Amino acid sequence: MLVTPVQPDTALRREALHAGIVDPDMDSMRLLSETAMKFPDALSFSSGAPHDGTHDLAKLSYYVNRYLTHLRDNGVPEQRVTRLHFQYGPVNGFIQDEVVRMLAQDEGIEVPPEAVMITHGFQEAALIALRGLFRSPDDVLLCVSPAYVGIRGAARMLDIPVKGITEGPSGLEPEAVAAAVRAVRAEGRRPAALYLVPDFSNPSGTVVPLEARRRLLELAAEEGFTILEDNPYGLFASDDERLPTLKALDTRGDVVYLGSFAKSAFPGARLGYLVGDRTVVGEDGVRRTLAQELSKAKAMFTVGSSSLSQAAIGGILVDAGHDLRSATRDLAAVYQERLAATLDALAAHFPPERYAEHQVRWNRPRGGFFLVVEVPFEADLAAMERSARDHGVSWAPMRMFHLDGGGERALRLGFSNLTPAAIREGVARLAGFIGAETAPATGSPRPAPTSPIVSEAHA
Ligand SMILES: Cc1ncc(COP(=O)(O)O)c(C=O)c1O
Repeated sequence: MLVTPVQPDTALRREALHAGIVDPDMDSMRLLSETAMKFPDALSFSSGAPHDGTHDLAKLSYYVNRYLTHLRDNGVPEQRVTRLHFQYGPVNGFIQDEVVRMLAQDEGIEVPPEAVMITHGFQEAALIALRGLFRSPDDVLLCVSPAYVGIRGAARMLDIPVKGITEGPSGLEPEAVAAAVRAVRAEGRRPAALYLVPDFSNPSGTVVPLEARRRLLELAAEEGFTILEDNPYGLFASDDERLPTLKALDTRGDVVYLGSFAKSAFPGARLGYLVGDRTVVGEDGVRRTLAQELSKAKAMFTVGSSSLSQAAIGGILVDAGHDLRSATRDLAAVYQERLAATLDALAAHFPPERYAEHQVRWNRPRGGFFLVVEVPFEADLAAMERSARDHGVSWAPMRMFHLDGGGERALRLGFSNLTPAAIREGVARLAGFIGAETAPATGSPRPAPTSPIVSEAHA
């Protein structure tokens, strides 16, 4: 009689994989979008996707052609234009000139093309900067908390230890950074870099004041750490709100600027850039920019960035006369209108003068894509699922952005891809959800939130 052999179970145990893959925190964004997608009729405040009302497929080929024409107009031979787009290209990219001109126009950042590396979005720029700047297991990344999940994930994937620094109402405070530096040194470790989003941060929409920017630069110089500045939302600031970036104020090369075209152009291009102008000198005495030196990491991560994406973004920059700030004024107005609609709707449903009754408050950012609402109950993923399923509105639990606990009773509203009418409806639904969660029948009254939040929250 034939006996069928028992097939061995060849499944891998997940615990055998890298700790970053096993870490449930690394799964939070996927779980969030999966939960949101289970309820397609729910209005989604859960992501920071840019406004997609202006997308037009015809523009893709227009911008690519615009860039090709630009190259030809500048005397680049046809054979080189062809090779640039079909062949393996320069590791650090080929649209640095366009980015350099844009940085000078839009941000007052003056750097040579050799200081710029074109990357697969902010995310690759962060991975490359971290890989290059962190050498020993005792090198620590100081990181604003709450923070964009992309930086925490990049550090986790590279086994880089992170020390969270809780931000205040005006973002990261220099004194808190100085204290964190001392604490890290006291443990015999080295603070190698500091990550922050000084303009309209994700998730909390905070802006670091000018004086604090100057002080952070002084600290970096005194303590010898690099500042990793991430700035996807600063472009949309109104002229009277606009502050110089840390990179524009940096005279020593202490700031590595991590740029993204996800919000200023379109995220599908997956294009961004790294600015590293500090000189690196080798034992042979050869001097190169940090961006040139880091191209070894870029080559091993992704070989180079997509030629088609570079051409499309290059075309957008050329078309805008390298002045993306002016070219995105209409878009900036769209985001401002959405922010105002969100703030107005919240105030209508939760009158600040009746805070004692509803115990709901929120901060009032002046720009960006997000704001934070504090609620008198645990706003975790299970609560988000109830909100989406029973009330037709999704959002992001703040807990997933905090590095060392916190944010349990707060949620992030991302309003960038909802029309004002959808925002009004979404906040009405959110009010229904909050009412249901706090109704006496569903549980005993809950204590007021204790974590600090922006003072204007009560306005
Ligand atoms: C703080 C922050 N940095 C960077 C990005 C964009 O990154 P990428 O260029 O990789 O899409 C985002 C997008 O949500 C963000 O919120």
